[in-house]
Order: sequence, then C-alpha cells, then structure tokens
Amino acid sequence: MDVSRLLLMAEQARQHAYAPYSGFHVGAALLTADNRIFTGCNVENSSYGLTVCAERAAVFNAVSAGKKDFLALAVISDGGGYCRPCGACRQVIREFGRDIQIIMASKDRQYEIKKISELLPEEFAF
Ligand code: THU
Repeated sequence: MDVSRLLLMAEQARQHAYAPYSGFHVGAALLTADNRIFTGCNVENSSYGLTVCAERAAVFNAVSAGKKDFLALAVISDGGGYCRPCGACRQVIREFGRDIQIIMASKDRQYEIKKISELLPEEFAF
C-alpha cells in the first residue's frame, strides 16, 4: 500500500472541500482491492445536519462506480492533530469490511493507522 500516494490524493480532494460554516476542510482517499483510488471531501450545508463528511463521500463515490472491496482509507484535514473519522463514517466504512486500514493523518502528513474494527468495536450489523 502506497500511503504517500493516498495522502496526496486525500490532500487534493481536501482542496475541493465545501466548508463555509466550520472552516474545517477534510479530504479522503479510498483504496480498492483492484488498486483504484476514490476520493471525497466534506460538503457542508446551511441546514447543518445535511453535511456529508469526506470519508462517506469517498465511500459513496466508490460504491457508485461499482466498487465494494476496500483495503484502506486515508483522511486528512487542515486542523490540528490526526483527523479521525466520526462515528457515522466508522459505521459506513465498517459496512464494507472489518479489516479496512484507516490512515488518520495530520496536515503535515504524520499519520497513525488502525483497522476499522479497532475504531468501531461492537458495531451494528444485521
Ligand atoms: N468532517 C469530515 O469530513 N470528516 C471527519 O472525519 C470529521 C468531520 C467534516 C464535517 C464538517 O463539514 C466539518 O468536518 C466539521 O465537523
């Protein structure tokens, strides 16, 4: 897995973030088993609850293209510290596997990697 490439793609996606309310820009890059990368950014709304996070945008982008086998997802913001997926995004990522590696990066490209099953133990599942 090429972490630098994933981070670069996540940074590029972050440039498209629409975050006029929080000022917090997030980008995500999702690696599929067939070595493709799908990206996403956060898209906010004046009706705040309609906001979609970068991670979910990346997952929905991949699924919309017919991809469901995911190996890793990198997420990076322009805030301080490592960017960690919110609870809703953890549940959405977990839908597609327990072993997906989540690369949580800081804006200076330091990162920590954990499996989604570590980030969301005892998830809801049918
Ligand atoms: N956000 C993400 O896109 N991903 C995260 O992991 C955390 C939060 C977005 C949602 C909102 O647009 C902004 O960051 C502040 O919460």
